[in-house]
Amino acid sequence: MTDVLLSESRRTDPATWWRQAAVYQIYPRSFADANGDGLGDIPGVVSRADYLAELGIDAVWLSPFYPSALADGGYDVADYRNVDPRLGTLEDFDRMIAALHERGIRVIVDIVPNHSSNLHPWFQEALAAGRGSAERERYIFREGTGENGEQPPSDWGAAFGGSAWERVEDGQWYLHSFATEQPDFNWDHPDVRADFLRTLRFWSDRGVDGFRIDVAHMLTKDLTEPLPSRAELEGLPHDGNHPLSDRDDVHEIYAEWRRVFNEYDPPRTGVAEAWVSTPERRARYASAEGLGQAFNFDLLVADFDAAQFRTIIADNLAQSAASGSSTTWVLSNHDVTRHATRYGLPALEGRPVKQGVEWIKAGGPEDWIDREQGLRRARAATLLLLGLPGSAYLYQGEELGLQEVADIPADRRQDPAFFRGGEFDGFGRDGCRVPLPWTAAGPSFGFGEAEAHLPQPASFAKYAVDVEAADPDSTLSLYREALRLRRVLQTDEQLEWTETGRADVLSFVRPNGWRVVTNFGTAPFDLGADASRIVLGPVDAGSLPAESTVWIAPAGR
Ligand code: BGC
Repeated sequence: MTDVLLSESRRTDPATWWRQAAVYQIYPRSFADANGDGLGDIPGVVSRADYLAELGIDAVWLSPFYPSALADGGYDVADYRNVDPRLGTLEDFDRMIAALHERGIRVIVDIVPNHSSNLHPWFQEALAAGRGSAERERYIFREGTGENGEQPPSDWGAAFGGSAWERVEDGQWYLHSFATEQPDFNWDHPDVRADFLRTLRFWSDRGVDGFRIDVAHMLTKDLTEPLPSRAELEGLPHDGNHPLSDRDDVHEIYAEWRRVFNEYDPPRTGVAEAWVSTPERRARYASAEGLGQAFNFDLLVADFDAAQFRTIIADNLAQSAASGSSTTWVLSNHDVTRHATRYGLPALEGRPVKQGVEWIKAGGPEDWIDREQGLRRARAATLLLLGLPGSAYLYQGEELGLQEVADIPADRRQDPAFFRGGEFDGFGRDGCRVPLPWTAAGPSFGFGEAEAHLPQPASFAKYAVDVEAADPDSTLSLYREALRLRRVLQTDEQLEWTETGRADVLSFVRPNGWRVVTNFGTAPFDLGADASRIVLGPVDAGSLPAESTVWIAPAGR
């Protein structure tokens, strides 16, 4: 009982709650639509506050809800200190914070500092003021190359395809690492730095508990001329001096942000989305002098494979212990094929995210996928993840075992990646952003009164919340039970591996005796005496079935 109380207080401690939190990502435009316009909104989140409380999460992370033309699903922000009028008002936002806080749920919002929308007033002013103006200095404008400047300043590509430079009317070019409508800020400019501090204070003053930082590794750039070519860039080491990515000087920004976080009681917290070359470099974003935590996407890009999982878990725990932070586990988010689908696709050696891409590009053929296996593995992987030290980031709909939607007609797609190719390979990310089914019947499966902004397939009926809530064996029931037990069982941030005698079976024990066993293989695994203390997961005649996880209570409980 003592350790139960200990873990409970650690979970609710205002200064450390994030270290082992279960954080649920809400993609607001696809969560719940309260005003019946087909787009999810902030009052929709309020209307589902009880659902979130019953699920048993510690915090929500809201993807962007700011005014936006939706050139990139809201990651093109036109006003950082407001709510998109289609999603509600600032008063609605305050009501949402109150409703979630009342239920003991903390709130993290997304900050998008690498670029704004081209509709942001500063970018509009820069266009109007013309070349050489102070207004253009807040972004990255350059003259073109070629005889009349008709060629871009360099051959760099944008993440969503095409050139990373766009020409404006007077002939200058601006840099956009993502969509054309997402001009990159110039982080050497004091106005940019000051404005983001204002934004952090604005949301912190409204009661926000933390921030997720979009492409945190890209803000600072060395654009000394001559600019390197794309091929030259690719050959450069990622050692802190790369011109475009993971530069050492980006941490000066986060040190300043940390000082703002610490102005508050309790201090606000941050989690970096930083795609960097090594866990060591990732740890710099997670330091106590920086953002505090950084996403670890290693499981998200791993196969359903015992050896890969074990190495990733061990490496990340060692790394987070060394940095003083705690690690983060992720299997799905708004940028990748849902894991219940990914795990049902044939292995494409070492490239599980790519697997989803290929399948979607082919239109989602049914004969490529084993959906039962996908869901079985997804449930096993999630139970393993929820048993680990560190925080778990869950993506809306995964608690229903929801599948990726592959066959969205081209004229209904929204993701710029679908239309422009590029790094995301033309597959688009709309399939994991299809609005949630709340009821098996009714318009848009209870998402709202109108047709949802992305088409929902008929198969969503069987994943609806009302169907799953009534079924004790559903994925929703499993998540609820796991999150409830996790609150009781979560303890010190360590684990010890126990040898199982099988390369495809992983087993670890937490300091309070809570044991997690995952069978990645196809042959059942004999649990021996442990079989009598199973608190969660399937067991069949004393054995752990293929592709499943069990939680075993501490002895004597
Ligand atoms: C976000 C994406 C977005 C991109 C550009 C990523 O980190 O997760 O959804 O398209 O940044 O803002």
